[in-house]
Amino acid sequence: MKVFIIGAGPGDPELLTLRAAKLISTCPVVLYTGSLVPSEAIAMARKDAKVLDSSSMTLDKIVAVIAAARDANQDVARVHTGDPSIFGSVAEQMRRFAELGIEYEIVPGVSSFSAAAAVLGRELTLPELSQTVILTRAEGRTPMPEREKLRELASHRATLVLFLSITLIRDVVDALMPEYGGECPVSVVHKASCPDQKIVAGTLNDIQGRVRAAGIRSQSIIIVGRILTSTDFADSRLYAPNFTHGFRRAKAENEK
Ligand SMILES: C[S@@+](CC[C@H](N)C(=O)[O-])C[C@H]1O[C@@H](n2cnc3c(N)ncnc32)[C@H](O)[C@@H]1O
Repeated sequence: MKVFIIGAGPGDPELLTLRAAKLISTCPVVLYTGSLVPSEAIAMARKDAKVLDSSSMTLDKIVAVIAAARDANQDVARVHTGDPSIFGSVAEQMRRFAELGIEYEIVPGVSSFSAAAAVLGRELTLPELSQTVILTRAEGRTPMPEREKLRELASHRATLVLFLSITLIRDVVDALMPEYGGECPVSVVHKASCPDQKIVAGTLNDIQGRVRAAGIRSQSIIIVGRILTSTDFADSRLYAPNFTHGFRRAKAENEK
């Protein structure tokens, strides 16, 4: 018996991995995290599978469901949105599984931040402009570690991706403004890859009003940084004719 902790991707069922689809359609118990898990993924479950939504359960209840599956020697597909390793609240579950001697395995998924970058048609890292992506959130009811407050992180001026922060957009703008400046581009992607996806683009100066006007209050990724609009970035070394790497030798001066 094993618990498969599965990333179901950002919402589009075509962004499920083959491995996720195979496990969801074969495990006798499917326990999924609620609304953003694609309904098509849940519909793949076996007709006789026990399918449960964990969104109203406590950790104790989730563990009890999984312990019962262990007692019945049934594999569990524990289905999470996006990729389980990012704000997935899976660590506390895995700690409990380890205490109970329940075997588990993580199956990665497409995170919503990757899906957001994809629908914006942007690369998050650009040569000489930003080579660092910070995945974080604004401080709400969950306190942030002291060294990870947005004002601290802003000092790097790296590409910044915020989860779980759309209702705190005002605080985000206030914290970032001193380092990034009011003209810094910001994009908000609501329900990336879903049929009701919305994209709002602006700057730190005006993004708050644009988000309000669009009526967006949940399930959004906020991306901040010059990579969103830059067109005059340098080419990468990877494809430069004068750059040797493991798969290609640079051409000599006299070579055509
Ligand atoms: C509990 S976290 C889970 C993140 C997930 N593990 C991932 O890798 O995308 C939920 C937050 O992820 C973001 N999110 C999840 N799915 C999204 C989507 N399809 N579009 C935009 N944001 C999404 C939102 O910021 C939402 O508040």
